Amino acid sequence: MLRRRVVAGNWKMHLGPTEARAFLEALRLPEFGDDGPEVIVFPASVSLLALAESPRRDDRIQLGVQNVHFEVSGAFTGEVSAVMAKDAGASHALVGHSERRHVFGEDDDVTRAKLGAVAAAGLTPILCVGETLEERREGRLGEVLARQLVSAAGEAPEDILLAYEPVWAIGTGETASPEDAADAHALLRRTLAETLGSEAAERIRILYGGSVKPTNVDDLLAAPGVDGVLVGGASLDPHSFGRLVAAAV
Ligand code: PGA
Repeated sequence: MLRRRVVAGNWKMHLGPTEARAFLEALRLPEFGDDGPEVIVFPASVSLLALAESPRRDDRIQLGVQNVHFEVSGAFTGEVSAVMAKDAGASHALVGHSERRHVFGEDDDVTRAKLGAVAAAGLTPILCVGETLEERREGRLGEVLARQLVSAAGEAPEDILLAYEPVWAIGTGETASPEDAADAHALLRRTLAETLGSEAAERIRILYGGSVKPTNVDDLLAAPGVDGVLVGGASLDPHSFGRLVAAAV
C-alpha cells in the first residue's frame, strides 16, 4: 500500500503569533500535487488562530495543537481542550510527546485519555512513542514501544498517525540511524498488526522524529517503513522547513 508521506513541524514553546505570521510570509513550499506530502505545523496554542486566519497560509499547510487536556472544559487553569483547539483551526494533535511524558510526568493512562479526547473532538492524533537511552541499553526497546502503543490503542481512531521518537535523539543532535529507525518502525508495525489488525498496520503512517534536519532527512525518509518526519528544531526556520518538505515530495 502506498502511504502518503507526512512532514510535521513541532514548534514547541517557540514562535508567538507575530513570529508565526512572519514564518508564513517567508515559507516557500515546493510544487506538488495531491500525492505530495501532507504538511502539518504544530504552533504554540496561542499562535494557532494567527496561523489559521492568516491570508498568507498556503492551504496545503494543516495546523495542529501540541497538547490538550483530556476534559472538554472545566476548572483546569492554563489548559486547552481538543474542542477549543479544533475551533481555533487545528486538524491534528500531538499526544504522548516525550516532553509531555518525561518533563510533565504524563503516564500511559493520561496519554490514553488525551488520545480519546482528541479523537472525540474529531482531530487526527499523532501518537508519539519512544524509548529512553537507558531502556534501549537494557534491551527493552520492543517492550517499551509495545507498552506505549498497546496502552493507548483502545482509543485509537482510524486516522491515527504514529511517531517513533527515541527520547535520546530529541533535541540532542543525535539521530537514530536509518537502520535503527527502520527496526523500530517494523516493531511498531508488528504491534499494530497484533492490536488493530493487518489492514490498519499497512495503512497507518509512522513518522520518525529526533534531530531530523535537511542534511539527514533523505536517508531517514529512504529507510523502510518511515512514512514521514516529525521535526522540532529544524522546523522553526522557514527555509529549513521548506527543504524538509521538498525532500518528501
Ligand atoms: P527535534 O525534536 O527535531 O528538535 O529533535 C523532535 C520532536 O520533539 O518532535
